[in-house]
Amino acid sequence: MIDNKRQQLVDNIRIAIAQQHDKTDVLQAAAELINAFSEAFNWTGFYLMRENVLEVGPYVGPRTEHVRIGLDKGICGAAALQKQSIIVDDVQADPRFLACAPTTRSEIVVPLLDGDTVLGEIDIDSDRPACFTTQDRQMLEAIADVVVMRLREIR
Ligand code: SME
Repeated sequence: MIDNKRQQLVDNIRIAIAQQHDKTDVLQAAAELINAFSEAFNWTGFYLMRENVLEVGPYVGPRTEHVRIGLDKGICGAAALQKQSIIVDDVQADPRFLACAPTTRSEIVVPLLDGDTVLGEIDIDSDRPACFTTQDRQMLEAIADVVVMRLREIR
């Protein structure tokens, strides 16, 4: 069970994206609301699966050079291949890590699953070591579900 403030974010995102009718607008609105949840979220965005490559979508944060990520690359690629969320407490100790900002210390990646299909993922970087908790993972998985539901409605 997630706590009230996290459940509130899930509910707020559900309401906000119901008012968006374009895929990019849905993802932008969700990225902005997620990013505003914590000062420790320093890059918050989406990657979208296109022909077995992850392409960067809407995000809040510094510009990233990783606009296309192969499934054999990065924490992003690993989460897409495993179809599972990955939390990395210390990115410097993880050889898979692709750095966006030199200040990043921890990361979470949560796939957008439509049944067994990975549509993309939510990626958050933090400058704080071990920033992401089990509660955050559960919250982001619930957000991924509401985002996928909305994408299904509008496509
Ligand atoms: N850190 C990610 C790459 C994406 S950028 O951080 C925005 C990774 O290791 O896959």
